[in-house]
Amino acid sequence: MSWFAASVDWQSVRADIEEAIDNNDIDGQAPGPLLLRLAWHCSGTYDKETGTGGSNGATMRFALESDDPANAGLQKARNLLEPIKAKYPGMTFADLYTFAGKVAVESMGGPEIAWKPGRSDAADETFCPPNGRLPDATQGAAHIRQVFYRMGFNDQEIVALVGAHTVGHCHKDRSGFDGPWSFGPYSFDNDFFRLLFDETWTVRPNFKPTQYEDSTGKLMMLPTDLAIVQDPKFRQWARKYADDMDLFHRDFAAAFAKLMDLGVPRR
Ligand code: HEM
Repeated sequence: MSWFAASVDWQSVRADIEEAIDNNDIDGQAPGPLLLRLAWHCSGTYDKETGTGGSNGATMRFALESDDPANAGLQKARNLLEPIKAKYPGMTFADLYTFAGKVAVESMGGPEIAWKPGRSDAADETFCPPNGRLPDATQGAAHIRQVFYRMGFNDQEIVALVGAHTVGHCHKDRSGFDGPWSFGPYSFDNDFFRLLFDETWTVRPNFKPTQYEDSTGKLMMLPTDLAIVQDPKFRQWARKYADDMDLFHRDFAAAFAKLMDLGVPRR
């Protein structure tokens, strides 16, 4: 670790992120879920074959990557973190974007996430991964496996990670999808899995792109979310997580820590 990274007071950064989460809203919503999505989209471009993509470099600062339609809306999360970055000259954007994801999960009642600094910031967009590496919500299990196997995850880790959809919302002006997954969109619990099993999900009428709604019409699921209970192997893990929140928290913490470290050089 360089003396720069060592000089950052991460407890103080954490307090600033928590303060930003508590005292701001983004389009009327608390920022925790959007910060989590930022950390995931920074990391989820990783390709284990070529070692390209991933959170190292904070390449989403460059238009080439931020303009990927999958990243719509994330500028708002990066803007929220900008004043915190300015306060800590020894901290990289790449460390901040991932650390904020960890703090967001923990601040919403999720598990403690192991995290280490040490990422550097790329100088220009030549380090950006190509667009199109993040998952497409209109697809099914085969596509989910293709994307997450490319990063080096197995079926159990995939299901745990997608359980992050227990928090947050979809936005018409960002992805085209609309609505929250659960009645507690700022509570990092296992409601996503419980609802997948306990509710009857039907296609939302007169709405494109195709998404699903519960019996109240207030909650939503993406096609990729339903694939988590339609695919027999995914479904086994989803059932375990629906029945055991501690297990979900443990497995999510391990998989999310791994996600944020993909491609990060470690001695
Ligand atoms: C098959 C994999 C996945 C697909 C297709 C997918 C797709 C999406 C889409 C379409 C949205 C809505 C964006 C918007 O309109 O604002 C979304 C939001 C979100 N995703 Fe995912 N996602 C996946 C996996 C993940 C993973 C692995 C995580 C974190 C570990 C995650 C965390 C989130 C969060 C927290 C939000 C809510 C953001 C907000 O409230 O603004 N997603 N996702």
